Amino acid sequence: MNIRLSTGKEIPIEMHKVRIVQKASLVPVEKRLKAIEEGGYNTFSLKSKDIFIDMLTDSGTNAMSDNQLAAMMVSDDAYAGSESFYKLARAIEDVLGFRYVLPTHQGRAAEHLLAKVFIKKPGDIIPMNYHFTTTKAHIELFGGQVLEIYEDEALNTQSKHPFKGNLNIQKLKDAITKYGTGRIPFVRMEATTNLLGGQPFSMQNLKQVKQICSEHNIPLVLDGSLVPENAYFIKLREEGYKNKTIKEIIKEFMSFIDLFYLSARKSSCVKGAFIATNNEDLYERIKPWLPVYEGFLTYGGMSSKEIEAMAVGLREMTDINVAGSVPEQVKYFVEGVIENGIPVVTPPGGLACHIDAMMFLPHIPQSQYPAGALAAAIYIVSGVRSMERGTISMDRDKDGNEVYSDLELARLAVPRRVYTMSHIEYVVDRIQWLYRHRDLIKGLKFVEEPPVLRFFFGKLEPIDNWGTKLGEAFKKEFGVQY
Ligand code: F0G
Repeated sequence: MNIRLSTGKEIPIEMHKVRIVQKASLVPVEKRLKAIEEGGYNTFSLKSKDIFIDMLTDSGTNAMSDNQLAAMMVSDDAYAGSESFYKLARAIEDVLGFRYVLPTHQGRAAEHLLAKVFIKKPGDIIPMNYHFTTTKAHIELFGGQVLEIYEDEALNTQSKHPFKGNLNIQKLKDAITKYGTGRIPFVRMEATTNLLGGQPFSMQNLKQVKQICSEHNIPLVLDGSLVPENAYFIKLREEGYKNKTIKEIIKEFMSFIDLFYLSARKSSCVKGAFIATNNEDLYERIKPWLPVYEGFLTYGGMSSKEIEAMAVGLREMTDINVAGSVPEQVKYFVEGVIENGIPVVTPPGGLACHIDAMMFLPHIPQSQYPAGALAAAIYIVSGVRSMERGTISMDRDKDGNEVYSDLELARLAVPRRVYTMSHIEYVVDRIQWLYRHRDLIKGLKFVEEPPVLRFFFGKLEPIDNWGTKLGEAFKKEFGVQY
């Protein structure tokens, strides 16, 4: 929720109280430099003890509510028939309207099952509004191909378009004509599109996608990892939804969806995931594989405590103060950065402040990974951990050629209910400082490059030892203690 101050300025106000806290520490710049060097200039390799504000992700890093913690005390650990599972199933039916539920240990496990069951032939095509790293990896491991069909505006980082996550309807029709329905096992929509900067799609777009899928008998799959945030943007930005509740908007989404999955590590603030549907046939096709890869039907690799907390988290995410908390904090964050002319993805999205590294560092060619260099530089000057979402996050093609990402973004994710306004102010300030000293940042090159999802374990080094020079410039201004 936003509150208007007497000065006229609007600020996002926290509609919760913080009663359990965790100590944070800011290690000095020398130590940060050593940590990033040892970690191969990859923020995934940093240790938590060396990080002040962790904006790597909003996945599994959110603060649970008191009611979620309370629910964990009464879980039922039965291997089969656990009462905790039936509570979750009731919450899913109530919030999303789906009767059949397949729990999995996390979102990518759901993606694995979908790819395994539905991709039948090499060369099968999965049209989608945009890929996510793990989704793409699973589809390709089963021989499928991702076909991204977004609107032109989606790749414009400096945009005012309210629904950059929309799928391009004409391109979907063209794809069906070109490949035929036999090669398209399903169409996937992602709410909100993570790698485009957490950008939502509109209800009207989803309706149109569904209509085309129905005409051709193609199942429509929704990755709903950030579904309350997408619903929040619809309430704010789409005509006719102002007076609808988040729950009503989510329910309307689901009326168009054949198969739903989400990673509960985000909006529901627990470690787990599930697939849900009302289509018995789709459910029965996936079900036999669940115990093979995840666990029995009533726990799917999750602990019963997390299942209990998920049932509560799903209901809580439909509260407008929960659904809107990250979008509003992100908006405040983005507006602070933009004020100083720093290129950042607009409109503000559903999970993070995304800095456009190609615009921030125009002197670094894509072959030298500007987004990776920016993420490392942000850490050096602030102790804030962000994530590279650019070419390092793309794997090479099968001939070993580099696949350049459409966007080079350094993503500063905002975990739910974890950081305060002064944390945000601090991050904005250090990014401003970095922008003034951006010429000191140069590119990166790989020294160790894994064959799949290389961004997780890859090791890189700075060209011309720029990290040390940046650290020196920072120390000169702020002293050794920062
Ligand atoms: N789909 C989307 C849209 C995601 O954002 C993620 C994870 C997944 C699927 C996979 O779920 O992590 O539970 O296996 N996104 C995280 C992130 C990792 O940092 O954005 P998971």
